[in-house]
Amino acid sequence: MKLSVIILAAGQGTRMNSAVPKVMHELAGKPLLEHVYLRSLELGATDIHIVYGHGGEHLHEYCSQFDVEWVLQDQQLGTAHAVQQASPHIPDDHVVLILYGDVPLIRSETLNQLISSVTADTIALLTVHLEDPTGYGRILRAGGEVVAIVEQKDANEQQRAITEVNTGVLALQAGYLNNCLRKIDNNNAQGEYYLTDVIELAVQDGKRVITSQPEDTSEVEGVNDRIQLAKLERIKQQQLAEAIMLKGASIADPARIDIRGELDVGVDSFIDVNCVFQGKVSIGKNVSIGAGCIIIDSTIADGAVIRPYTIMEQTRIQHKVEVGPFARLRPGTSLEDNSKVGNFVEVKNTRLGAGSKANHLTYLGDAEIGEKVNIGAGTITCNYDGAYKHKTIIKDGAFIGSDTQLIAPVTVGENSTIGAGSTITRDAEDHELTLSRTEQKTIKGWKRPQKR
Ligand code: UD1
Ligand code: CA
Repeated sequence: MKLSVIILAAGQGTRMNSAVPKVMHELAGKPLLEHVYLRSLELGATDIHIVYGHGGEHLHEYCSQFDVEWVLQDQQLGTAHAVQQASPHIPDDHVVLILYGDVPLIRSETLNQLISSVTADTIALLTVHLEDPTGYGRILRAGGEVVAIVEQKDANEQQRAITEVNTGVLALQAGYLNNCLRKIDNNNAQGEYYLTDVIELAVQDGKRVITSQPEDTSEVEGVNDRIQLAKLERIKQQQLAEAIMLKGASIADPARIDIRGELDVGVDSFIDVNCVFQGKVSIGKNVSIGAGCIIIDSTIADGAVIRPYTIMEQTRIQHKVEVGPFARLRPGTSLEDNSKVGNFVEVKNTRLGAGSKANHLTYLGDAEIGEKVNIGAGTITCNYDGAYKHKTIIKDGAFIGSDTQLIAPVTVGENSTIGAGSTITRDAEDHELTLSRTEQKTIKGWKRPQKR
């Protein structure tokens, strides 16, 4: 069986009140449409067709990495019309699965089950029972078998009382679908071509409609406004948090975590409240992440301790490193085993060797720092001359006194000591004390100014 997926995404999404097409709004750091696309890939679809309309050019740009056929629906004349833009290009013997680009939480298990009930004589329809079915197409049954779907606006009072509704997700053979689409008209309350008319046509042709239901109604919930988007975001976050917890890491409160990308966490690690993880983040075993950290595209090895309110991006943290609180690690930071970066320290494009420490109030930019180096409070690598960036090299065992400026390019030798308060403009020799200070003096008898 070959599978083709058609993702409908041409709707205007007016209730989002946005200049951005609805399906480009993000859930867990990915556009809604990407969630549906990834799900289609998981199903092993031979081909994927995305029907777009309003703002479609933007979709192309943002989703240029998608391996799909983009199909323009010039005017939004209804769901059958939308499907018809893509389905004639699909070989007759494929099974076609229809998905909506604004329904992001559908699970592959649910869809696999649906697809498996498609035969030459059957159509598979995903339905759901809702306490409040308002707005949805109602499932009409006779003798237990589905016979038709009636839209809210076309339904009589008795039909509106039906709580089993159409999710919009269905699967059937392509040849038969195309056959039906040619027969569908727009003779209804909304003057639209309804895909749901396929059901009635199929029943007339003697086909059976096999229904199945999602495990959870959130799977078939669509996004029409930003309130629904925020609701689905929390559901998704809860799911991501639960997956991490089941694998053996603890999360202080799954309602206060935001994972906007791929997060991998090793066993017995702990994540405190209000952390944001963005892009690809990998955390080892026995790691502790304090409250309020923002971690972007970084890896953290076993036993590291990241204290509260640390922000890091494109950073590599090795075993048992300690960071923060209030540290800022910018792209290109690499902290080797057992090193420490303390509060109010900014690090950029710098390697801090094993066992080295920069515990307080420091800027380290474009620096290569060896092992067991001590960087005193208030040390600054002056890496920028106004036109170019330059490198600071600090060799193993060096001790940089507090409030030192290292004017790059400059090298501080092995085991050398820099006296506190120095401005270092030339290389400092190995094993020696280097300092640049004016000598201390006392002015005897000097009086403080007095108020008259
Ligand atoms: C549709 C179903 C309804 C079902 C509901 C579930 C029909 C006629 N009705 O109703 O039975 O209960 O979904 O949410 O199918 N779209 C296009 N082009 C169009 C029209 C729609 O691409 O011309 C896309 C939309 O972007 C959206 C999806 O199709 O992703 C559904 O469209 P929408 O207008 O929300 O359908 P409903 O009227 O809610
Ligand atoms: Ca809808």
